[in-house]
Amino acid sequence: MDARTLAATVLARVWEDGAYASVALDAELTRHPNLDRRDAALATELMYGVLRTAGHLERSIAKHATGDRYRKKPLVRAHLLMAAYSIQFLERVPPFAAVSEAVSAVKRAAGAQVAGFANAVLRKVAGEAEKRGRGGLEAAIAASPPGWLRAALEEALGSEDEARAFLLAAPFPPANLCVRAGRSRDEVIERLRLALSTRDGEASSRVEIAAGRESPRCIVVRGAGDPEELPGVGLDFHIQEEGAQLLALAVGARPGERILDACAGRGGKTRLLAEEVAPDGAVDAADRHPQKLARIVSPTVRDRFPIDWTVGVGGLERRYERVLVDAPCTGTGTLRRRPEIAERLGAGDPERMAVVQLAIASRAASLLAPGGRLVYAVCSVLRPECEGVVEALAAQGLEPCPFDSEVGARLAERGTSFRLTPQHHGTDGYFVASLRRA
Ligand SMILES: C[S@@+](CC[C@H](N)C(=O)[O-])C[C@H]1O[C@@H](n2cnc3c(N)ncnc32)[C@H](O)[C@@H]1O
Repeated sequence: MDARTLAATVLARVWEDGAYASVALDAELTRHPNLDRRDAALATELMYGVLRTAGHLERSIAKHATGDRYRKKPLVRAHLLMAAYSIQFLERVPPFAAVSEAVSAVKRAAGAQVAGFANAVLRKVAGEAEKRGRGGLEAAIAASPPGWLRAALEEALGSEDEARAFLLAAPFPPANLCVRAGRSRDEVIERLRLALSTRDGEASSRVEIAAGRESPRCIVVRGAGDPEELPGVGLDFHIQEEGAQLLALAVGARPGERILDACAGRGGKTRLLAEEVAPDGAVDAADRHPQKLARIVSPTVRDRFPIDWTVGVGGLERRYERVLVDAPCTGTGTLRRRPEIAERLGAGDPERMAVVQLAIASRAASLLAPGGRLVYAVCSVLRPECEGVVEALAAQGLEPCPFDSEVGARLAERGTSFRLTPQHHGTDGYFVASLRRA
């Protein structure tokens, strides 16, 4: 197995089976433990590079190809795009080598005729790149998502520059840890440094450990390998992306309160909420998928309710001081890590998701005690799923209000909602809003 074959296998799975690129890549790398580190790095670079610049690469191929039949064969598409990417952006790979490797791979995957087509097209792409000079990766990334998505990002983030910075954010964020309630972050950082120096010896001097930028519970770790293997995991801290921590902290849960995590999934945020309400409070977790709820660690929750909020409230009669709706969404806030979603989404998806989000949030909010608070959040930054849903909730009688938490009030600058973006907060993109039931 070489780097290109592995990357092509992963890309084909992403396009054919709708696999998450990061998951499919990890699975392939695990299946091939003998792959040289440099090859693994090249495969990773090729796979993410192709996904982030796919729109641009397809256009550079389309100029020289009649029709797009190659797109129907995922392996052929993968080798063509990887070669176009190498030719245009990878200084260390000579263009002729990229062309000939791709042509051989296409021949193996689809026969001599398609290989002839690949050869003709890629030679023209290489000729053009030679005339123009290599480079322009950032422009290619910024121009790759479909036009509607670029326009929607610009509208949501306020300018072309902001949308560009959002798209250019590094695709490999460092590991984020969430320090457990009651522990001092500084002490956990010290313990982690000490434990790593015992575990890794001299290599630990290359590890970077720092306090997170925005979440008071976050520790950011670079260069220490698999975060699940870090000493202290589960005891001193859990693995949790900093934006997800902020979203849960924005709820402002207090000891003794009753909280509903209405879209709890596997309980990523439920755990943090449960820590906040302990020892006398209680968090209930609901989700449409009981199999997700079953994976929540039991001391974290009082009860689990499989509820599809678009249908009803599942007979639930309890009332809550706070409800968190971490709603399903287009996921555009995670584009830096999941560039493959750009081509899966259609222009109508944000509006379509907004209908679902509104149904979920308004039903879940009906379980608020009088004066109770709703925090509505999505890992999307697009307006229909963000301000659009909040406006519709307000029209139904929920009142947008300042956050009842230090984190929320700070990030919203005393307003009633905030966006997180990789370029400003180092997190995935999120929208979070605070509302109150009269
Ligand atoms: C963004 S995820 C929540 C992630 C979770 N809060 C966490 O921190 O891990 C959205 C969740 O909403 C659930 N969901 C989607 N549609 C739903 C519906 N109609 N009713 C209830 N839950 C729904 C999905 O199963 C998914 O777990």
